[in-house]
Amino acid sequence: MTETALTVHQTARPTGFPSADQFRFAESPVPEPDPGTALVANLYWSVDPYHRELMDGGFALHAPLEGRTLGRVVASRTPSLAEGEIVFHRQGWRTHAVVRPEEVRRIPHHPGVPLSAYLSVLGGTGLTAYVALTRIARLRRGEDLFVSGAAGGVGTATGRFARLLGAGRVIGSTGSAEKAAYLTRKAGYDAAFDYRTAPVADLLARAAPTGVDVFVDNVGGDHLGAAIGALRERGRVVRVGTISQYNTPDAPPVRFDHADVVEKSLRVEGFLVKDHLDAQEELYDFAVPHLRSGALVADETVIDGFERIVEAFLLMLRGGNTGKILVRAA
Ligand SMILES: NC(=O)c1ccc[n+]([C@@H]2O[C@H](COP(=O)([O-])OP(=O)(O)OC[C@H]3O[C@@H](n4cnc5c(N)ncnc54)[C@H](OP(=O)(O)O)[C@@H]3O)[C@@H](O)[C@H]2O)c1
Repeated sequence: MTETALTVHQTARPTGFPSADQFRFAESPVPEPDPGTALVANLYWSVDPYHRELMDGGFALHAPLEGRTLGRVVASRTPSLAEGEIVFHRQGWRTHAVVRPEEVRRIPHHPGVPLSAYLSVLGGTGLTAYVALTRIARLRRGEDLFVSGAAGGVGTATGRFARLLGAGRVIGSTGSAEKAAYLTRKAGYDAAFDYRTAPVADLLARAAPTGVDVFVDNVGGDHLGAAIGALRERGRVVRVGTISQYNTPDAPPVRFDHADVVEKSLRVEGFLVKDHLDAQEELYDFAVPHLRSGALVADETVIDGFERIVEAFLLMLRGGNTGKILVRAA
């Protein structure tokens, strides 16, 4: 444990794309746990697209930020948390946190599963993909699927889970040729395209000439309009996120043929993963055996060193990650 604790604060609101100078690393002595609490030294941090949304108002300025984190209990003044235990909690963006037992979740020990997986494919990211497919799309065997933001954390988990659930063709879009190649070579996608090279509707028509049954949408904008056109009868749109708009709030509204929704009997449904935390055990039951057998791989971009957390966050917003982006304690 270092003697100094570091905590990231947001110092200014962004207009458009955020920058590193809108954050500050605050130094303080490592906090002491009060009776009933424990001190956690954080080991892995998640930086997420929703943090960009919080930068517009949800994050208080000049105050510690929230974020999903895994850490080890290093000093405890509560019988409920033993020193050495690994816990999940939401006091991220800082090296150390003082937590109450009810603020943490113990990480189960599944032999052979790396710790980082509990923030990626077994964490909120994987849970989002799992809920999107099983509860919202209600994906059936043999159905064809299109995923936007396919090379990110949710997108790679969606493609891999869909494959394990018996999907038909799985098609993804992403922001570079390299990431498109990763999707088809490594992540189980049948086809992938770089959405920057042509209108999304044209690229999707080429990749899925007979249409798709399900669209899992991490991006919104043109992707959503294009996918509604490509969906078959009784198709489903699962609205997961709208990252194409987080840095461009003035982006024009999505254009799509509203009659398509009626004439093809489409269902468009969004959800927030926080309303589906009861699916966590089901996700473990589904995914852990596949992780152990090697049928499932956790796609991750790991950045080493807490002092690089802001850099990692901005990198993710620019598409510099493949799979879930995580920061690991040096
Ligand atoms: N509903 C929920 O409860 C829930 C939970 C978790 C996440 N989400 C949402 O799911 C989406 C993915 O989250 P994640 O954590 O897995 O992040 P991620 O996909 O790992 O990272 C974000 C990715 O977004 C892409 N991107 C950035 N700007 C874009 C733009 N203008 N147009 C298209 N793509 C853009 C980048 O990839 P490219 O190189 O492909 O551009 C980047 O890698 C986000 O919209 C997030 O808000 C929702």
